[in-house]
Amino acid sequence: MKIIGTGSALPEKIVTNDMLAGFLETSDSWITTRTGIQTRRLLSKETLSELAITAALAALDSSGVAPSEIDYLICSNVANSYVTPSMSSIILGPLGCCCPCTDLNGACAGFIYALDIADAFIKTGRAKNILIVAAEEPSRFCNWHERETSVLFADGAGAVVVTEGDGFRDFRVTADTHTDVLYYKRAMEQTPYDRVDERTQPLVMQGREVFKLAVRACIKDVDIILQKNGLSGDDIDMYLLHQANLRIIDSIREHLGQQKDKFPTNLQKYGNTSSASIPILMDEMSRAGLLKNGMRLLLSAFGGGFVTGAAILDWSEIKYPEVSSDN
Ligand code: ACO
Repeated sequence: MKIIGTGSALPEKIVTNDMLAGFLETSDSWITTRTGIQTRRLLSKETLSELAITAALAALDSSGVAPSEIDYLICSNVANSYVTPSMSSIILGPLGCCCPCTDLNGACAGFIYALDIADAFIKTGRAKNILIVAAEEPSRFCNWHERETSVLFADGAGAVVVTEGDGFRDFRVTADTHTDVLYYKRAMEQTPYDRVDERTQPLVMQGREVFKLAVRACIKDVDIILQKNGLSGDDIDMYLLHQANLRIIDSIREHLGQQKDKFPTNLQKYGNTSSASIPILMDEMSRAGLLKNGMRLLLSAFGGGFVTGAAILDWSEIKYPEVSSDN
């Protein structure tokens, strides 16, 4: 499998740390030093499905694959306003795709899980072209009176088109049950037989515990996938890691003894957009011409569950359509 198109979309609204300090007991210096985040994009006028469609259309456009040629649509999404229908069925029609579609909740590792599943479908001949859209609005899981979580999360969408090819070298996806450290619980309706008075509980996160689990799990994944493929950290040209926290990324980089410029980041501008963070970063870098032919990339992400995913691929440059000067 290889990636032949990328796209991304972000909400218009830019929220700075100082804006948050206007209504939360926090500060720009606390948020910047603990996380690296300086601004984030939050949904206000747009809907998440609109972002998902914009990102998907950009990915399709750059791939040269027509919507009608997509054999499968996979959306990576933890939650949105609709429990049903799925995000993928909401965007399928507007995209002009006519194929099976499904949503996948692999938390912040969802994009890598989706790639892994797409790879299996393509290898077994079940599909040729697959559209993967990671669209997330974790800002809507947070209690905005709680500084511990609300300063971290943000909204966005990233998409790729994948097809037959020899770009991907290997995947490693794992899961482990640690449901108490990070969860968002939504109330369901009562029935005559089950009158439990459920309340939606905004995102609960044990920050320090998540930090330790994330660093430990990502280092383990990266070490194992490198070793399995007879590679060392030096053999990777670029590490595209889940954009949750600069200190988590730095801990992984220090373990690998690699230079900072191999670990591109955009969390400073966009915050933690959950499973959308890697495809948004990939799209930005690819459109900026920073991903060159033959570059070896390592993707790694962790998320609630606890689930993790890692992948190694060799990049093939994508030719993006010219942007008209009228835009
Ligand atoms: N502003 C100011 N002070 C704050 C804030 C805030 N926004 N949030 C917490 N504090 C306070 C705490 O109350 C605490 O005060 P105390 O010392 O009086 O008790 C103090 O700051 C230190 O808190 P710690 O929790 O020790 O801070 P830490 O250095 O661990 O940083 C953080 C907290 C940023 C949450 C860190 O633990 C972290 O990044 N964890 C991982 C989070 C993450 O990546 N989550 C997402 C993972 S999965 C996914 O992406 C969906």
